[in-house]
Amino acid sequence: MTTEIDPKGFRPINIEFLAKGTGESFDIFFRSDSENFVKFASTDPKHQDKVVRLLEEGEIEQEFFIKEEDLFKYYKFATQSLRTVMDNPNVPVETKAKKVYEVSKGVMKEFFNYNASSKILESSEEVMEMMEDCLSTADAGFAGISRITSKDYYTHTHSVNVGLYCMTFGTKVGLPKDDVKQLGLGGMLHDVGKSKIDTALINKNGKLNDEEFEQMKAHSPLGREMLTGMCCYKDIVINMAGQHHEKFKGGGYPLGLSGDEISMHARICKIMDVYDALTTRRSYKKALNTMETLTLMTKQMSNDFDPKLLELFIKVMGPSMV
Ligand SMILES: [Fe+2]
Ligand SMILES: [Fe+2]
Repeated sequence: MTTEIDPKGFRPINIEFLAKGTGESFDIFFRSDSENFVKFASTDPKHQDKVVRLLEEGEIEQEFFIKEEDLFKYYKFATQSLRTVMDNPNVPVETKAKKVYEVSKGVMKEFFNYNASSKILESSEEVMEMMEDCLSTADAGFAGISRITSKDYYTHTHSVNVGLYCMTFGTKVGLPKDDVKQLGLGGMLHDVGKSKIDTALINKNGKLNDEEFEQMKAHSPLGREMLTGMCCYKDIVINMAGQHHEKFKGGGYPLGLSGDEISMHARICKIMDVYDALTTRRSYKKALNTMETLTLMTKQMSNDFDPKLLELFIKVMGPSMV
């Protein structure tokens, strides 16, 4: 029996995330026409076979949806499904990392594109933990990570990329495990304040004028405020959001801090933030390759970064990247 429901309040999902999870049950729909959604299955074990069969058939062209109120359950389910993949020793680590990347992207896209509640960000902590597992079990350096990251710039992919780069850097320089996780999480959440900035400004094609730039600058203190208000994030994460646009020699924003006044984690975030922004495509600029990026960062932007960290970054990127 099919049930026709009002189209409002539905969200597209990636049905592949629902392959093996367990958790509270919710319904999955497809769109029968522009107006109507039809129930396809549910994540209840009785119906889940339908999802598994569909996934086994291969290429899925159909788009699937869930009800907006089930989003939190969906991401819980997806992270549990991911956990099953992580625990399987037969799955190659690059495949695992790719899957973690997909789920992380989903979480951040939901947050930025649909103004989802910040509760959705709770899933980011769990996915970052899984990514830390991937990075510490394999010698996945920047080259490996760079193969899975999106090269098209969107706020949500940029957020996940910066999180991964921060985490890779932390692993490579031998930071303690929990610091690596916090650094990854801080990277992923560094731009959360952009969710409070006018979408037209965020999606503007081309450079921002002075007035627009002033408005955009608010994303950093706003991010700090949001994360502090959520009461579950450590200072490492909060400082990365609040200080990633400060410059090592001063002159950055919002406070114009310099040197050690900027937290080490925010100084790392600054490097990864700029690295990802330069190596991804936007409608008005092409992506630079690693060599061009590092040249620009060391020659023309050297005042912006902590020179010791930048040197370390270049060193740990490995010969395959430079
Ligand atoms: Fe930013
Ligand atoms: Fe950023």
